[in-house]
Amino acid sequence: MDEYEGYDYNKLKEAGKISRQALEFARSQVKPGRKLLEIAESIEGFIKDKGLEMSFPVNLSINESAAHYTPEYDDKTLVPEGAVLKVDLGARKDTCLTDCAITVSLSDKYTKLVEATEKALENAISMVKAGRKVNEIGREINKVATSYGFNPIKNLGGHGIEQDELHASVFIPNYDNGDNSQLQEGQVVAIEPFLTTGMGYVENGESLQIYQLISDTLPRPQEGRAVMEYAATNFLTYPFAMRWIIKGTAMSEFKVRRGITDLLNIQALEAFPVLVEKSKGIVAQAEKELIVDKDSCTIVT
Ligand code: CO
Repeated sequence: MDEYEGYDYNKLKEAGKISRQALEFARSQVKPGRKLLEIAESIEGFIKDKGLEMSFPVNLSINESAAHYTPEYDDKTLVPEGAVLKVDLGARKDTCLTDCAITVSLSDKYTKLVEATEKALENAISMVKAGRKVNEIGREINKVATSYGFNPIKNLGGHGIEQDELHASVFIPNYDNGDNSQLQEGQVVAIEPFLTTGMGYVENGESLQIYQLISDTLPRPQEGRAVMEYAATNFLTYPFAMRWIIKGTAMSEFKVRRGITDLLNIQALEAFPVLVEKSKGIVAQAEKELIVDKDSCTIVT
């Protein structure tokens, strides 16, 4: 397990334990009619209160939105009646990152969809071991999805997680994409089936709330500089939410938006638009992070 030598599994497991608790806490927070912003802040507060940082802003994606929605500053969105809400979160202990998710269905109509997604994750996890080919895991996820009458989302999937790097090397598909790369002992991965009542593809939506610094070149405009300095100091190279900058700097929303545009113009920022199911199908997600062992795996979250 040379490649993973030095990976601090103890710190990772500590972050994993908090993440697991945070998901359970999140489940108790999701109520129809409640402000999404309030839910996001309570979940992020839960993790911070335990002395950890966020791996990325909590994602609260509703119905056909699959991922990457985090509330705006002063977001007025309420949890709709009967919503299917994905909570995707991660805690960070130094450079050790977790990534995990659950789906809360407020409608009986989608209980089966959530059940199928959890079953797909469970089956996928039971296959994990050193040497396992990633397309075999994808094939199983697809098999479970279709046996329940749903589709897996083909352009989303699980991923390796290295220290300091949330989306690393290996990609674990949600169907058999023919990639026979093998999992390695000691490797840390997240498996995340997304199942949908729709066709099974996501595309970029309009909302853009999550960003990540990818360069330290300072832009000339003052707003861009202020946003970069704050983000570099507080969020390093981890993803952050626009609302975190507005809150932390006390700059106006207008100025922060302008600063972010400055940084996008000089390619100092990567943006993560909300991902929406193309045919507007309802989407459920289940995700756990784990360490690949010789004959099985150790669940982190
Ligand atoms: Co993930």
